[in-house]
Amino acid sequence: MEDKIKAIQEEAIAKIGSVSNLDDLEGVRVDYLGKKGDLTKILRGMGSLEPEMRPVIGGLVNKVKGEINKAISQKESQLKEAAKKERLKMETIDVTLPGNELKVGKKHPLTLVFDEIKDIFLGLGFTIAEGPEIETDYYNFEALNFPDNHPARDMQDTFYITENTLLRTHTSSVQIRTMEGQEPPIRVIAPGRVYRSDDIDATHTPVFHQIEGLMVDKDISFANLKGVLIKLIKELFGDDREVRFRPSYFPFTEPSAEVDVSCAACDGDGCRVCSGTGWLEILGAGMVHPNVLEMSGVDSEEWSGFAFGMGVERIAMLKYGIDDIRLLYNNDLRFLKQF
Ligand code: DAH
Repeated sequence: MEDKIKAIQEEAIAKIGSVSNLDDLEGVRVDYLGKKGDLTKILRGMGSLEPEMRPVIGGLVNKVKGEINKAISQKESQLKEAAKKERLKMETIDVTLPGNELKVGKKHPLTLVFDEIKDIFLGLGFTIAEGPEIETDYYNFEALNFPDNHPARDMQDTFYITENTLLRTHTSSVQIRTMEGQEPPIRVIAPGRVYRSDDIDATHTPVFHQIEGLMVDKDISFANLKGVLIKLIKELFGDDREVRFRPSYFPFTEPSAEVDVSCAACDGDGCRVCSGTGWLEILGAGMVHPNVLEMSGVDSEEWSGFAFGMGVERIAMLKYGIDDIRLLYNNDLRFLKQF
């Protein structure tokens, strides 16, 4: 009997030594120490032993059970330790690996120009005004001194929603809304989207952007207009650029001017970019017509003002050397990434 118990012990220890995972180890425990295991059977059969043998065998079985239990516990911690090491190995982080690159977007060139011009004017004490893109005939034309059938309307054909409602052709309508809504002194710029029924080509799109400016105060003269616009143009295009004011016509200003900047490509000598003239037209401007002031409730005897308007696409194209306006709308990343 004692030999048999020893044999069970050896067999159990050998099996414990050979298992390689916790499930198999549990199987060995059940086989040897469980209710149906050989050792339990021996304990159950003690009744048939000689009385003096019972404590000997009982003691031996318990000792063997203790040994097997100990071996199982040891094996269990070995297996758990190994599993932990394996897991740590799998979870190792290589801190020298380059990280996942975060793709940061860029501002669109039109946004860059808007931001730059807004910054310049905020620095000059202007604030930003807004108006609706769906505008009435009154604000887009009438109040800007374009009466019905005025020939200057032809240059700004647009999309009509009703006979009196249209998509605004310029941001000049915001001049009127501003003067109606606030007493002078006024210093505002109005950036925004405008529409014209133009065919698409390298310099035209039916939707584009403008920034309007309006200053109304006591004794405002053409000299103030020149001062502000020269400052703007030098900030935008650099100090070496020359600025030229040419007489022009707009119904809502008198006198009116078109403003040119000397061509950066040829330094004013004349080249393909400036069609040989040495100058590039960048905006329209003038002294606000007294009719416009009066129609908006501003006393033209007391106040005077200047206004100007520029195309944002045109400025972006000149500033960044873009030769086709459609590039600004195609959303080609190869183009947009360059800014
Ligand atoms: N609204 C004119 C246009 O879209 C631009 C313009 C010219 C605006 C002269 C002005 C101005 O404020 O004084 O062609």
